[in-house]
Parts: sequence; structure tokens; C-alpha cells
Amino acid sequence: MILNSPEINLITRACMKASRSLIRDYGEIENLQVSSKGPGDFVTSADKRTEKILINELQKAHQDYGIITEEAGIINKSNNKNRWIIDPIDGTMNFLNGIPHFAISIGYEENGEIKCGVIFDPIKNEMFCAEKGNGAYLNNKRLRVSNQKNLDQSLIVSGGPKHMSKKKDEIFSEFIKISKKVFAPIRKYGSAALDMAYVASGRFDGYWQRELNYWDVAAGIIIVKEAGGFVDFFEEDTVIPLKKNVLATNSNIHKELKDLIDKKDIE
Ligand code: IPD
Ligand code: CA
Ligand code: CA
Repeated sequence: MILNSPEINLITRACMKASRSLIRDYGEIENLQVSSKGPGDFVTSADKRTEKILINELQKAHQDYGIITEEAGIINKSNNKNRWIIDPIDGTMNFLNGIPHFAISIGYEENGEIKCGVIFDPIKNEMFCAEKGNGAYLNNKRLRVSNQKNLDQSLIVSGGPKHMSKKKDEIFSEFIKISKKVFAPIRKYGSAALDMAYVASGRFDGYWQRELNYWDVAAGIIIVKEAGGFVDFFEEDTVIPLKKNVLATNSNIHKELKDLIDKKDIE
């Protein structure tokens, strides 16, 4: 691999190791889908199993580093200097339904800034990674965001909240408004991490979503930036820690898309 900081090496190794059991677990889903019990509990345990392997691997090198992770919460809370931000399976609903579109996502943060990150799609064997100042890669190929300049010819991806709430109308108005401006209807693929990775690789021109968790996007932030894109935390809600409204684009369409999702402007 082209990037070779100790942290990126550690993360990629941990991802490779955890992905072996994750792929096995995914293979079980098909059987469980037709069983009367259903795959629900099994998915929770696949999440936990993957997370445990990742934490073990990362802790072998640095016992004292802080860890923010979806299932286990915060580990070594007092260490704010060095932190791993982990989502063991991003795209759980896809995983649960046997849809091969989910990923392991790990970011590494130093003094509050993301230094490197990896998003690994084990089914397609696509490893997106980036290191601050050293670029972003998909496997060994350099990543660049798209060059699309026109929002009305862009392909945009988003995601809704997990559970529809009273904000439902607002979110739908936003979708409709943006749909009217772009060429295709907005795509929803169900993995925030891969949505960001796909913006970094030019497959999508832009992505936005409200109220994401930090672990959904930590790795994606550095990957998009290092691929030449722009990441913005619009209307940042400082009241809820670790929640983020994220807009990630190829830069060219950033302002236009941001103006459209400006809350004040929703018709
Ligand atoms: C979810 C996915 C989805 C996004 C949700 C996230 P999970 O993460 O990233 O795309 O729309 O907001 O919670 O639950 O699959 O880890
Ligand atoms: Ca997630
Ligand atoms: Ca998850």
C-alpha cells in the first residue's frame, strides 16, 4: 500500500482481520432470512464480534488510546489526544437484508483532528483510505472527486434518519427541493461511510445527511478531503455531542447544494 503511517497500517490490518469473520457472518444471513427467528439478534452479535476484533487489534499497539465506537461507547475517555473512531458495520440494514453494501469504518484522530481513515467494503474488496497530506486511495489507485460543475447534472446521495420523526416533513421537503434541481432522483444506498467514499472516488458528486453520528463519517471526512473534495458541518448542533450534519461534495457544487439545504429556505 502507498500510505504507510503506523496508524494507517494498524487500521488496515485490523480491518482485514475483522472482515474475515464479517464475511462469514454475512454468508449466514441468507439462511437466517428464511428461518422463523430472523437475522435480528444475529446481526447485533456480528456487529459486536467485528467491533471486538477491531478493538483488540488496535489495543495491541496502543492500550491507552481513546476509542469512540458505536457498540461499546467510549473507552479510555480521558485520552482526547489520540482516538480511534470506529463503526464496525456501517450499513447494518443492508447487511441484515443480505444486500452487499456495508463497510467497516475507522478514523484516527490526533488532538481533535482526523489524521487518517479507512473505509473497507469487504464484499467488493474495496479499501478506501487516506492520510492527511498524503492523498486518498482506493486499494492502490489514487482517488479524485468528480469534476462535475453543474448541480443539475450531478448525482447526489443522501440518507434519511433511522427512524422517521417529527422532522419527517422537513426532510422530505428537502429531498423534493434538491430532486427538482438535480438530474436524477437522489440516491439512498444505506451506508454513510460508503456514501462519503463514493464522493471521494467521483462516483457521486455530492452527499448530505443530517444528524449522523461521528463514527458514521470520521474516516469519510479525511478520505473526501484528501481526494480534493469539501466537507462541511452545516448548522452544526453543538447541543448533541458527536452528532453531525454533513455535506460532502466535489467542491464545485458545494455552495449551490448548501444553499438548497439551508433550513431557512425550505418551502
Ligand atoms: C447508518 C447508515 C445509514 C445512515 C444512518 C446510519 P448503521 O449507520 O450509515 O446510511 O442513513 O443514519 O445510522 O446503523 O448502519 O451503522
Ligand atoms: Ca453507521
Ligand atoms: Ca454501525
